Amino acid sequence: MCGIVGYIGDGNVYDILIKGLHRLEYRGYDSAGIALCAPDGSLNIYKSCGKVSNLEQHCKGKKLDAKVGIAHTRWATHGEPTDNNAHPHYSEDGNIALVHNGTIENYKVLKDALIEHGCTFHSETDTEVLVELIEYIRLKNNCSLVDAVRQALNEVVGAYAIAVIEKSNPDQIIAARKSSPLVIGIGKDEFFLASDATPFVEYTQNVVYLKDEEIAVIKKGEPLKLLNLENEEADVNITELQMSISQLEKGGFPHFMLKEIFEQPDTLRDCIRGRVIDGGKRVCLTGVLDNKEKFLNAKRIVIVACGTSWHAALLGKYLLQDMARIPVEVEYASEFRYSNPVLDDRDIVIAISQSGETADTLAAIQIAKEMGAFVYGISNVVGSSIPRETHSGTYIHVGPEIGVASTKAFTGQVMVLTLLAIAVGRLRGNLSEEEEERLGGYISRIPELVEDVLKLNDKIKHLSLIYTYARNFLYLGRGYSYPVALEGALKLKEISYIHAEGYPAAEMKHGPIALIDAEMPSVIIAPNDHLYEKIVNNVQQVKARQGSVIAIVTRGDTEIANIADHVLDIPEVPECLTPIITSVPLQLLSYYIAINKGKNVDMPRNLAKSVTVE
Ligand code: AGP
Ligand code: GLU
Repeated sequence: MCGIVGYIGDGNVYDILIKGLHRLEYRGYDSAGIALCAPDGSLNIYKSCGKVSNLEQHCKGKKLDAKVGIAHTRWATHGEPTDNNAHPHYSEDGNIALVHNGTIENYKVLKDALIEHGCTFHSETDTEVLVELIEYIRLKNNCSLVDAVRQALNEVVGAYAIAVIEKSNPDQIIAARKSSPLVIGIGKDEFFLASDATPFVEYTQNVVYLKDEEIAVIKKGEPLKLLNLENEEADVNITELQMSISQLEKGGFPHFMLKEIFEQPDTLRDCIRGRVIDGGKRVCLTGVLDNKEKFLNAKRIVIVACGTSWHAALLGKYLLQDMARIPVEVEYASEFRYSNPVLDDRDIVIAISQSGETADTLAAIQIAKEMGAFVYGISNVVGSSIPRETHSGTYIHVGPEIGVASTKAFTGQVMVLTLLAIAVGRLRGNLSEEEEERLGGYISRIPELVEDVLKLNDKIKHLSLIYTYARNFLYLGRGYSYPVALEGALKLKEISYIHAEGYPAAEMKHGPIALIDAEMPSVIIAPNDHLYEKIVNNVQQVKARQGSVIAIVTRGDTEIANIADHVLDIPEVPECLTPIITSVPLQLLSYYIAINKGKNVDMPRNLAKSVTVE
């Protein structure tokens, strides 16, 4: 993961870089650092363990005047999160500074060779090997920095997004990427560089997304130049950003997570806009219309994803099997890529990723493409790697998600999967026009129904106080509510650090029921669906063992309401739409429990928003 920022221009380099690091902090916050080429010809690096605010403290009183600079917020892969391991890293002679996002897989071999040539290392990172290698090549071959970077990258195995500056030539930044994202912002007489466009959205809307194995030569006063690893010049494709500064601010909420939970009526409206048409009667997805033959002839769908996106994928299986009647398999991208998968050109692989940059999901896409499958992406970040690497796809259009715990992206993903299932179901003749119209009508009302569910906020806030100090939680659901249980448990554990397990409610009797006692609360997702009577039994089983139950039920429910300790009621919707509604109270519950425990909900420990390492 890690966030990279770079700037060259007449603006205040330090301020721009620090502000940019704050915006990228969601990508990692083990340490932060900055390298500045000062007008007096010095190259200064300042770095500090922990968050960007620590770096700011550390920089107070330091020489911060600069013409060009690069900065980094780290999510450690090689070496502990210490000051020494923080980026930027100097070359041994102090001439160049480099920041890196990714992992250099052959760093050990390269390091041993460099040590033999007399280099000494000061950190445990794989990154330092890269900076030493570049400087070694530059001195040995007496070549320019860009040539040295290019030659070094030809020797590297792994993933990288890098930015490099040089003391002896302070009017340029050299950047390159492979498998880790990097985007260049082109302003008037200034250039920005970052892992995503958030650091410079208020300065320019003109961006260039660097492609894999492309090197950018960014020089003040000159047009941007791109090269490939063979030293051939590549075209510069400038595109316009679809992002505004207001989307990156908290808008009066104490945390991004809470803002993003409350944004869901709007984000779901954006997600369905233009896709549910004719007054709610028809569902139209361009990705399906443009690839009718693929969807008509598909014999199987395999969905790959990680984390929360994997939970959405599991719902995708229920939705697609129900409505399109195609067999669906759901795989963790990290397992799929090493599982020797069997695929051919009648398989469709759907890759789901909020960030569009998850390394395991990207690798799974690569394998699926090599095996001839048609690959369909469901992503949020426009222009990210996954939409560019897939044959076709759909954006969820929920706007930047900054909170590390995914909320609005999850409901957006589930919404797109619902639309996809309806569109493919209609195309293959497995879903009637009447059913499409009925579901379309409900989908059009989902934003207002989510607004309604958000009114549970105060009740949930109060409820959270009762359960804040539980050490374990069970989340149970059946059918469409089972993936919701998994997602509810993940939300709680990632931000409150309480151990929580999601389980199919009926499986409880095969093991987890042994855990139940008065100290073990269960959250049971029990809307009024075709499994309702079954889950009533599961609630009884928990109650019979003194477990306390928080149940999510459909408004008007009396049966579960009589036996559960607490109920949160949701409006009635068709079964396939319940996950979008039932997941919202679970987001709020985990948020308030984490807040009561004093945890940093937007930046939980050890996590990062965009997992661009294996
Ligand atoms: C969710 O709350 C997570 N922090 C995490 O599981 C996330 O969903 C996962 O890393 C996948 O990310 P992606 O959707 O950007 O690929
Ligand atoms: N491998 C580098 C380090 O550990 C960069 C990590 C990353 O991009 O996540 O410092």
